[in-house]
Amino acid sequence: MHSGAAAPLSQSKGPGIDVAPLVFEYPSGEGSVGVEVFPTREAVTEPLAERLVSASHAAIAKKGSYAVALSGGSLPHSLATLPDRSDADFSKWYFLFADERNVPHDSPDSNLRLAREAFLQRLVDERGLPESHVLKLALDAQGRPLPSAQAATQYAGQLLSLPAVFPEGPDGMPAVDEVLLGVGPDGHTASLFPNFPQLADTRDVVLSIDDSPKPPPSRITLSLPAINAAARVLVVALGAGKAEIVQRALEVQALPGALPCQLVRPKTGDLVWILDQDSAANLSIPDWALKGRKSPFPRSDVK
Ligand code: 6PG
Repeated sequence: MHSGAAAPLSQSKGPGIDVAPLVFEYPSGEGSVGVEVFPTREAVTEPLAERLVSASHAAIAKKGSYAVALSGGSLPHSLATLPDRSDADFSKWYFLFADERNVPHDSPDSNLRLAREAFLQRLVDERGLPESHVLKLALDAQGRPLPSAQAATQYAGQLLSLPAVFPEGPDGMPAVDEVLLGVGPDGHTASLFPNFPQLADTRDVVLSIDDSPKPPPSRITLSLPAINAAARVLVVALGAGKAEIVQRALEVQALPGALPCQLVRPKTGDLVWILDQDSAANLSIPDWALKGRKSPFPRSDVK
């Protein structure tokens, strides 16, 4: 399925709306689940930085570090003001990638390069973030990509070699403090694509893919269990182009694997969908409170 093609629409309107019994289990979690809608894309930037900085204070107090997994695409641009936050001790922050393209670090396709240009280099140059605290995709001695499976294994090794930063979480996975995800028009998140085999992996921390429907084809990605072991996942979907997939993700019961972003549900951590009015335009939020629904949105009504 190529990125942007809509996954087959489920006929079900989701549990709790029509009472069709769940024919499969969505992942359920113990943490809180919420949706926050901002007036504009620009209005997200400061509150997003605030969420991270306040979470960093708690994580640093608890374990001496705070780790953030970044996605590519538009997400890093929403962190542009993070370096201006004087109330953050970036010397204790770590950054990794929820997914990374298997390309040289200076490639225009590199999420590391994208993040550096958006805010990360300023954190290194101006705010005391150690370069060694940025977990980078491994390359060969000439700076060329490794086979993606080898790169995935090496990346997982980086997380597992820092147990104080990534303590063991649910399912024996290294727990990341904050995972920031985007959503593609087809419902992919990180580099987990609709109906792709990576979605079924329940064992590995980092997976590889060489036939990504979204170019470039070769990538590594956190697995669903690794994402769902996070202390918190923020799914940031902004702009009118995301209205259709946001409505499907939050209000429609798709078949398992059809919408990877729907399978993101931290086992014990919290989940927040961060939207703007454009991406939330197709939601029927006033209906969510119907029938005594206590959960924040229909798809959070896992049985
Ligand atoms: C990647 C991203 C990818 C991205 C979505 C949404 O490396 O390609 O991690 O998963 O988050 O495709 O991208 P936009 O936010 O740019 O729409």
